[in-house]
Amino acid sequence: MYLTNAEEKALAGERGEALEIAYRVLVAIGKLGNAEKLIPIKWAHVSGVSYLTIGEYGLDFLKKISRSKGGRFRVFTTVNPCGMDVENWEALEIPKDYAVKQLQIIASYKKLGMSNSFTCVPFETYKVPSKGTSVAWAESSAAIFANSVLGLKTNRESAVSALACALTGKTVYSDLQIAANRKPSRNIRVSTKGNFSGSMNFGILGFFAGKHVPGVIGFQGIGTKLSLAEAKSLSAAIGTLGSSGMFVLDSKEKVETIEFTDREFEETISDLSQTEKGEAVIFGCPQMTLEELADLSKAVAGKRCRKKSIVFCSSMMYELAKSRGYAARIESAGATFVRDSCADFTPLISSLKVGSVVTDSAKGAHYMRKVHGGDGSLKDTKTIIEENTE
Ligand code: F3S
Repeated sequence: MYLTNAEEKALAGERGEALEIAYRVLVAIGKLGNAEKLIPIKWAHVSGVSYLTIGEYGLDFLKKISRSKGGRFRVFTTVNPCGMDVENWEALEIPKDYAVKQLQIIASYKKLGMSNSFTCVPFETYKVPSKGTSVAWAESSAAIFANSVLGLKTNRESAVSALACALTGKTVYSDLQIAANRKPSRNIRVSTKGNFSGSMNFGILGFFAGKHVPGVIGFQGIGTKLSLAEAKSLSAAIGTLGSSGMFVLDSKEKVETIEFTDREFEETISDLSQTEKGEAVIFGCPQMTLEELADLSKAVAGKRCRKKSIVFCSSMMYELAKSRGYAARIESAGATFVRDSCADFTPLISSLKVGSVVTDSAKGAHYMRKVHGGDGSLKDTKTIIEENTE
């Protein structure tokens, strides 16, 4: 792989240990994929922020990088949600030993120069660069959304590779950074009865598609005009299983086509939903957007939640929702906001002491079982509100 003189020197450790490690990571990935070179990026989005996912080894690594010579982000860098609401973790009964470790992770990312983000929908919070711009995003739901909806170019970076990209301001010129690789490898033809719409349905479709297509997914039969919530849900669910990093709507590519009929829809929902009713309600995987918070506030206005109900969003969206009166309406209904946290990789779910949750997120339902060993009930937002409020 071609490296410039400056890159060779950094790889040899002349600009500090953090950069040496970062270049070693990128060069190893580049060699694996026969990449020609590294290219500059405008934005890195780093995952691996919850102590539940990175553990002691990850924390030690972050501390080491942030204290090393050259340990600073060289490009605009946002980070994924962490594992707790930093302002309110005690009231939410997050164990203190977990909170201490989580705060150390945050301190390391701050030292490295992250923007104050903690979101898995960074495209909602910050100005998105023009189409065709290369970025390096790790969160799979955001990376798939970036490639497919925003027209940005990103590989599905891992936590480690995105960190290396943030430290160097570069990524490997391979995979979805190359225009020729951004074509569907298989199509999914949707032919369910009735109008296919709503974020839960798109989550089910995405989960099916991610499981069956490892490359770029071409969709047929769902048109080209998805709402923000539908596109976000589709992207998140595709990223839950498999390795696809992009979808194309209304695909004309002449490749193998997989049918998605009512039968596949029913099989997928029964795979994701193991129980009829959850003991707690979870909204916000991915974290809720302002538009979703506005819709939720209208839907719960004047009602009371009958179960513990939690709404995950970033602090920035919470503040905006507060200023517009949405947050007060949702809180008056008895729901609790948890800010800046991941809805799944948090000890909060265990602290709720429930064996099942109901959610409108296919990704959330999947992780309820995978991460917490509980059951998920997958329903659309309207049904969840009807069944769980009075
Ligand atoms: Fe976001 Fe965590 Fe779900 S990062 S997409 S809330 S699993």
